[in-house]
Amino acid sequence: MLGKIQTNVSLKPYNTFGIECRSKYFVAIERERDVEAIFRFISREKPRHLVIGGGSNLLFKNDFFDGLTIHNRLKGIKLISENEHSVIIEAKGGEIWDDFVQFCVSRNYYGVENLSLIPGTTGAAPVQNIGAYGVELQDIFHSLTALHLETGERKIFSKEDCLFGYRDSYFKSREPDTYLIESVRFRLSKTKKLSLDYAHLKEQLPENPELQEVRALIINIRRSKLPDTEVTGNAGSFFKNPFVSREKLDELRNLYPRIPFYVQGDKLKIAAGWLIEQAGWKGKRIGDAGVHGKQALVLVNYGNSSGQDILSLASLIENSVFQKFGLRLEREVRVY
Ligand code: EPU
Repeated sequence: MLGKIQTNVSLKPYNTFGIECRSKYFVAIERERDVEAIFRFISREKPRHLVIGGGSNLLFKNDFFDGLTIHNRLKGIKLISENEHSVIIEAKGGEIWDDFVQFCVSRNYYGVENLSLIPGTTGAAPVQNIGAYGVELQDIFHSLTALHLETGERKIFSKEDCLFGYRDSYFKSREPDTYLIESVRFRLSKTKKLSLDYAHLKEQLPENPELQEVRALIINIRRSKLPDTEVTGNAGSFFKNPFVSREKLDELRNLYPRIPFYVQGDKLKIAAGWLIEQAGWKGKRIGDAGVHGKQALVLVNYGNSSGQDILSLASLIENSVFQKFGLRLEREVRVY
């Protein structure tokens, strides 16, 4: 049924939260030419539309999506160019992100290893500027090619065009669900260059570690803290780490000297997982919606939770963090 518009399709297999939601229309794109039928359909029916990759950063709040869900399955990874020091690699939007990381690490291309095992697809990665262990997608991003779903126009976006921010981009906050990200290009280093500044990374590695050892460590850390989406529904961090002013941080540090915080450029961020844990939510469960026991930033679906159950839990957490710390948590996950 590739490239064909289907009706009343369950999206449960397409979101890692494992929430049941039926989509009025659904289409999978496996070849570039599949998009033609979609432009025709969109211009005729004018449905709301939603593009999904791995479905690892979204939550359905209702059991029906009254629109068209487009599943990007475009595959392929290739070398575009190289010189003595670096390579440009292109991955199609439907490539599984971690397959792309493995491809790069196995060829000794440096830069993407700290982003190992992040769920989702390569096309979704720029949308929220994925990040982990001191590296963000924007650090290795070169450019991307996207198709405008209403006009059919194909456009190349440079790094500047993408307006990357912390878990944010042009595609998330300016023109959401307008483009299908067809392919993404990355500049990676052929000479050894590792980012090991994130707390405790260095201590857990041998002196002068190899690229493969860094990837293996990151995979271990993630497996030990984050629930496996195959076993327990979740979408990674549900909330963002909130930015705070220097005054607010000083005020909180006076009260809580061990509060974890990060300096990001000229901005300060507090670890939301710590705030949620201190507010007493770590490991808590209400029905089938819960807070992960090893990382309180992650909300989980223990089986039959609805999107509303997860959102109610999120609101309770937001209220208690605000009452205790005077900080408002912002959601990282996209809600439909
Ligand atoms: N912490 C707690 N309790 C918790 C969770 C964390 O006290 O329940 C403390 C930790 O002890 C540590 C600090 O908070 O001192 C930071 O925790 P961690 O290293 O796990 O990172 P994070 O800031 O909570 C962010 C990203 C993750 C990413 C990790 C590692 C966001 C919203 N989350 O989490 O990204 O994997 O750093 O770099 O920025 C995701 O976006 O889905 C995601 C998992």
